[in-house]
Amino acid sequence: MKLLVYGAGVCGTQFAARMYEAGHDVSLLARGERLAALRRHGVQLAEQDGPTVTRIPVPVVGQPDDGYDLIAVVVRSHQVDAVLESLARVEGDVLFLHGWAAGAHPLGEVIGPERVLLGFPAAGGTMDGDVVRYRRTNFLTRRVAMPIGEPDGRTTPRLERIVETFRTAGFNAEAEPRMDAWLRTHAAFAVPLGQAVHAAGGPVRLAGDPEAVRGMVHTIRRNLDAMATPPVPRAFAALRTLPQGLLVALFRRFLRSPTAVHSGLSDASPATVAELDLLAEQFRAGAVAR
Ligand SMILES: NC(=O)c1ccc[n+]([C@@H]2O[C@H](COP(=O)([O-])OP(=O)(O)OC[C@H]3O[C@@H](n4cnc5c(N)ncnc54)[C@H](OP(=O)(O)O)[C@@H]3O)[C@@H](O)[C@H]2O)c1
Repeated sequence: MKLLVYGAGVCGTQFAARMYEAGHDVSLLARGERLAALRRHGVQLAEQDGPTVTRIPVPVVGQPDDGYDLIAVVVRSHQVDAVLESLARVEGDVLFLHGWAAGAHPLGEVIGPERVLLGFPAAGGTMDGDVVRYRRTNFLTRRVAMPIGEPDGRTTPRLERIVETFRTAGFNAEAEPRMDAWLRTHAAFAVPLGQAVHAAGGPVRLAGDPEAVRGMVHTIRRNLDAMATPPVPRAFAALRTLPQGLLVALFRRFLRSPTAVHSGLSDASPATVAELDLLAEQFRAGAVAR
């Protein structure tokens, strides 16, 4: 399978590097200074707080082209529109791997509905200059599946092929038949979580403010109640039923953990704010009035 990873940030870079190491025919698309840095040094990866930087010579391109079997788009939600325009001019299946609570329709309208697959990255980490610092895997993160699905929930040969390709590169990918509900469930908790972290000035600071965590839990519950479908994965229903005090304690513990600290939650960039704003808007547009 000839692959293009579109977006050379934290997650896209990790996907491209692991695919390359697994022997796949993969290129990484970047722009601006990131493109220049990748052309100079190749992909540079390091563990979250580790001293060793590994260079991986993944081929880098500045434009999408025809001839890819699969293009994996790994940008922020608010950056998707510009990407769609460039993808309308080339062929190939497109897997959107990012936060997105607006369903497949607006994507398919621009590039053709038959080309669209949805998913969400299982990778986590932060940018440190030109180096991507990936989050170390642990007992918990190893068990979290990376969902990928057809918009209509079918298990198709191309979906099986894509899931297998990610698995051979070390990602715990799984076919997910309810990808739209999965992404909306994600937005229901990721938006209040991200916005509360941003307002507090980082995950550890938020952990130190139980009142703010309580307010965040309240908003997450309100969002889950406003969903037209039950949460996916089903385990997220626990966020509606567990005692609030217990949830506040669990979130405070999580926010102090390396899993939270060495992830996008520690990124206070304008791109993070813009993505959260768009996800909130997309979520509201699909919410059920109660
Ligand atoms: N980081 C995490 O720990 C984590 C974990 C799970 C899920 N996620 C989610 O995964 C998605 C990707 O996150 P990320 O952390 O990888 O984001 P990121 O580090 O901001 O990477 C996005 C990359 O895409 C590039 N890009 C955007 N539009 C482009 C265009 N038109 N042409 C070429 N390149 C373009 C950006 O370039 P510029 O810098 O020039 O804009 C940036 O390099 C998001 O939805 C995020 O919420 C992140």
